[in-house]
Amino acid sequence: MSTPSRRSANWFGAEGRAGMTARSWVRNQGYSDEVFDGRPVIGIGTTWSELAPCNAHQQQIAESVKRGVWQAGGFPLEFPNMALGETLMRPTTMLYRNLLAMQAEETIRANPLDGLVLLSGCDKTTPGLLMAASSVDLPTVMVTGGPMLNGKYRGSEVGSGTAVWQAEADLVAGRIDQEECYFIEKCMSRSNGHCMTMGTASTMACVVEALGMQLPYAASWPAVDSRRFATAQDTGKRIVDMVAEDQKPSDVLTREAFRNAIRANAAIGGSTNAVVHLIAIAKRVGVELTVDDFDLDGRDVPTLVNLQPSGKFLMEDFCYAGGLPAVLKELGDLVHRDAITVTGRTMGENIADAEIHNTEVITPIDRPFQGVGTGTAVLRGSLAPGGAVIKQSAASERLLKHRGPAMVFEDVDEYYAVCKDDDLDVDENTVLIVRNAGPKGYPGMPEVANVPVPKKVQDAGYDDIVRISDGRMSGTAYGTVVLHVTPEAAAGGPLAFVRTGDVVSLDVAERRLDLEISEEEVERRRAEWEAPANPYERGWPRLYVDHVMQASDGADLDFLVGKSGRYVPRDGH
Ligand code: FES
Ligand code: MG
Repeated sequence: MSTPSRRSANWFGAEGRAGMTARSWVRNQGYSDEVFDGRPVIGIGTTWSELAPCNAHQQQIAESVKRGVWQAGGFPLEFPNMALGETLMRPTTMLYRNLLAMQAEETIRANPLDGLVLLSGCDKTTPGLLMAASSVDLPTVMVTGGPMLNGKYRGSEVGSGTAVWQAEADLVAGRIDQEECYFIEKCMSRSNGHCMTMGTASTMACVVEALGMQLPYAASWPAVDSRRFATAQDTGKRIVDMVAEDQKPSDVLTREAFRNAIRANAAIGGSTNAVVHLIAIAKRVGVELTVDDFDLDGRDVPTLVNLQPSGKFLMEDFCYAGGLPAVLKELGDLVHRDAITVTGRTMGENIADAEIHNTEVITPIDRPFQGVGTGTAVLRGSLAPGGAVIKQSAASERLLKHRGPAMVFEDVDEYYAVCKDDDLDVDENTVLIVRNAGPKGYPGMPEVANVPVPKKVQDAGYDDIVRISDGRMSGTAYGTVVLHVTPEAAAGGPLAFVRTGDVVSLDVAERRLDLEISEEEVERRRAEWEAPANPYERGWPRLYVDHVMQASDGADLDFLVGKSGRYVPRDGH
């Protein structure tokens, strides 16, 4: 019936009871004999759910992918994966990124698939699926779902997430009322798609394109743009050829590809979350990548893209201005043009014809939106021996070098309970420490690090203050916030030993973050410290807290590093 060289042939081409079982039940969907003639079986993995609104349109995209797969002579089979909706899930979607990755990996490996097209969108779905694909290493192309159309509100633009922070501030200040907030929320989300600011979803979509794992322009076509569906169809055609070529994620995800992704992230003013996700993906595929690479490779890259939250425009504008290929082309020699991509061509070939159509949105490299040295900096020092990150473009110039007394909060709830108090002992020099927001501590490393500036400090006329946490920050947020402090407090990092009144110093230019107490004092406090017990007795959080690694290692589970490959030795029939 077929040559057994193809993975799916071990199922559909098998003799006897096993083959009959594999074929017969699939036939109940009304396929004719040709689907079992040995053609490549392409799994189309979605992450849609009505509970993950950013991904809710993926079935339409999957139909376009199928069209391409049929056209090229493949057999497409769609399958669902755990949908992670950033806006609804508690306590944080990051707690479930590794679960999605594990579930998708095992689903892929267990089934008769020869190649994959994986559909993602909302923040964690993109890294989750790519981590899975890296561990199976079957030919794979990603298709991100595309941003929503620009939010339009009373003649101006409103961006996902960023507009929520603004509306909250306006409501508290009495500039708008609750009715107006309802109106803004309707104006903000007016089509299918993920956040249209340069938050984590748009960042990861661009990063995946820069890695060479999705077709050119796929990151930026709006979710409802006909060209997104045409790109999805092209992806369906391409994956069939990739199976014939056996072009695997490990062929594309080289160290050069990761360096391209880091530089792309710097040029687009992307989210700090890309640091954690890219390291996790690299560890799956076996590429050496550390937090320091983000500093070293990002240092000489200016921010070219003027998008909210750092800038003004939104993803629809970015698309019309030329999308990621125009950015990569403008970066010139900063991009490894020889890196091979899922088109079967090099990155240089993919972007050869790219052009900038609007220099306000994508600025030329000689007149960048923000100069070099404004991207993600990696700090080290006695408070963060394993590293910490800060997004310089989101921080205040005056605070980039700062020394001040710490005010320590055990968790974010403790801070929220008092942050509006007029008698809180803080001023503009205070360094706010919010700990136990790391991978183990929360658990799940939520986006809570950018806590609001205390009301008392705001009333005194300051809108920013140094904040330090082992948690993450939303890609749509801003402030002088030191994130991902490693090791986290719950793992016994020095962050656990800071006390209110200790002096903390931050020096971004020198890449330092230090706690100014003696080593003997640190050791004394360490001796008194007791590691918190895992508060979960069962279920996924139990497994997660026991096995999650630190942010600088990608916050993956320790036993998920690396790959198991595509081969499954036994069957159950
Ligand atoms: Fe889904 Fe922003 S909430 S992408
Ligand atoms: Mg987010």
